[in-house]
Amino acid sequence: MTSKVTWLSHSAFLIEHEGAKLLIDPFLTGNPLCPIKAKEIEADYILVSHGHGDHIGDTVAIAKRTGAMVIANFEICNWLDTQGIKNVHPQHIGGGFDYPWGRVKLTIAHHGSQLPDGSYGGNPCGFLLTLGDTKIYHACDTGLFYDMKLIGEEGIDLAILPIGDNFTMGPDDALRAVQLLEPATVIPIHYNTFEVINQDPEQWAKRVEQESSAKCRVLKPGETLEL
Ligand code: NI
Ligand code: MN
Repeated sequence: MTSKVTWLSHSAFLIEHEGAKLLIDPFLTGNPLCPIKAKEIEADYILVSHGHGDHIGDTVAIAKRTGAMVIANFEICNWLDTQGIKNVHPQHIGGGFDYPWGRVKLTIAHHGSQLPDGSYGGNPCGFLLTLGDTKIYHACDTGLFYDMKLIGEEGIDLAILPIGDNFTMGPDDALRAVQLLEPATVIPIHYNTFEVINQDPEQWAKRVEQESSAKCRVLKPGETLEL
């Protein structure tokens, strides 16, 4: 069963698998690179990695309009409840859950997670998705950590890694992350949305292909990779 993985720019993805539409970190409104409006997006599930505005983004509005279930850590799910979002599934780091379309495990991420109104957002996370035979690791916002090697031991088909620097791993550490994870394919994200995270993804892709066994796919916002 194939999965369609569409990059919406920054950290946001739409993944379609077995008829389910999974939206990850939907920062669409106010995102200068995003090719789609929040009111146009359809989703069955929304996965939120942490509370920062460039990740939780349009979650509340999209969840209200579509009825999508939000998957996030316990603290963010509690906060969403105060925003009128009742269809939530809290998980936490290290824990996995089998949904009708596949499994979601929350992985560690070294970052912050304060919500837009200043509320405590718990620990930030990344996502390890198992969709049929395919494993996708979305690191979300994080610095490099050596335990990526443990995540890589699960056999990663697609790794999604930030390369923007300043707030997350930059190109050098993201390359080391590829070497620890040993994914079949990697997609760089979280760059060029703001000036402070400007990077050259094509240059990074060359380094990945020279210095690791992974293939690098540089997507344009709105472009889809089929797995
Ligand atoms: Ni962040
Ligand atoms: Mn971010």
